[in-house]
Amino acid sequence: MINILFVCLGNICRSPMAEAIFIDMIAKEGLSDQFHIDSVGTGSYHEGDLAHRGTRRVLANHGIRCENISRQVTRHDLNLADYIIAMDHHNISDLRYSMRGVQLNGQVHLLLDFAENTRIRDVPDPYYTGNFEAVFQLVEDGCKGLLAHIRAEQRL
Ligand code: 4NP
Repeated sequence: MINILFVCLGNICRSPMAEAIFIDMIAKEGLSDQFHIDSVGTGSYHEGDLAHRGTRRVLANHGIRCENISRQVTRHDLNLADYIIAMDHHNISDLRYSMRGVQLNGQVHLLLDFAENTRIRDVPDPYYTGNFEAVFQLVEDGCKGLLAHIRAEQRL
């Protein structure tokens, strides 16, 4: 199993969106049984909450299910993940703090480093911008590139 962990700040807007889009993509490509996909936040503000209404609405508009319950990242998550995929640079610096002393098995990347149609590197936070559709387009672009990267690297 290839273990992917999507990370943002609150685990209610961006990383649950990335998780849902990636799960949908691999299902359509018949790869679901090869992956374990999860998402977490660096913060615990929304622990136990469903994804933000805006995230659920934009995913539903695109025919994608979203069942995430927000939770904060643990050292165990970081230890298990083959690919740690952050939504922005702040998430990576916050993670570096949580990672002190953690045996990392995987790689840490920014999601948009895999996007082909934008030069933006940090996924803007729709919690503040309110523009969930624009974020969907960026996250989908990043997820497509991420899947292509993993397929090449893992020979899938
Ligand atoms: P996310 O957005 O990191 O994409 O889930 C946020 C959600 C909640 C907060 C910040 C960002 N907050 O401060 O509560």
